[in-house]
Amino acid sequence: MLLVSVVALNFSIGTTAYGQSAQAPASDPTNAGKAVFSKANCVGCHKWHGNGGGGYGGDALSLRKTELTRDQIIEIVGCGRPGTGMPFFMRGAYDEVKCHGMNRQDAGAQMPPEGGTFLRPKDIEAVADYVIAHIKGAGEPTYAECVTFFSSTSRVCDVYKTQAQKPDDAPASTGKGQ
Ligand code: HEC
Repeated sequence: MLLVSVVALNFSIGTTAYGQSAQAPASDPTNAGKAVFSKANCVGCHKWHGNGGGGYGGDALSLRKTELTRDQIIEIVGCGRPGTGMPFFMRGAYDEVKCHGMNRQDAGAQMPPEGGTFLRPKDIEAVADYVIAHIKGAGEPTYAECVTFFSSTSRVCDVYKTQAQKPDDAPASTGKGQ
């Protein structure tokens, strides 16, 4: 009896240790960046999937189709893009720190809007890592991806479910698919 419980104990310790080591790599290092993507309202303009579309900042470019590198994304998030609706998120941009070689005067009418929140350099890097890991080059958004993003079977995702169930060659019912 004693022997059995010792064996059982060893077994469960072994299982726990194994479970932990198996989970460590599975916890996504880009979760912090995902939080920034929502908190800084990148989702407001680029949408959860990053494909963008019409928003209050104008037509946000698709981050899925972006060809920018990590460094370029960091620069765009920190400094925004002059002459467009892409805001800057770095405190002191164009004032204490020149952006794209410009201060506020140089930028003039091209001065991009200020983001709704300022991000620390670490958060800007984190959101760039998230874009690189989960959005850039990701193809069309899927139902599974949507459910992962919202961590629930949000009704927002239902639209992707329907699409996934359509045969690939089915004619688009609205005529304005894309
Ligand atoms: C107010 C709307 C708005 C918000 C908020 C916003 N963006 Fe943008 N973003 C835009 C627009 C509009 C463009 C397109 C600029 C252009 O026409 O070149 C853009 C462009 C970009 C680009 C350049 C893509 C490329 O391929 O050139 C990146 C990267 C980007 N946004 C990332 C982000 C991230 C990350 C956040 C959140 C920290 C964010 N954006 C928040 C509107 C927004």
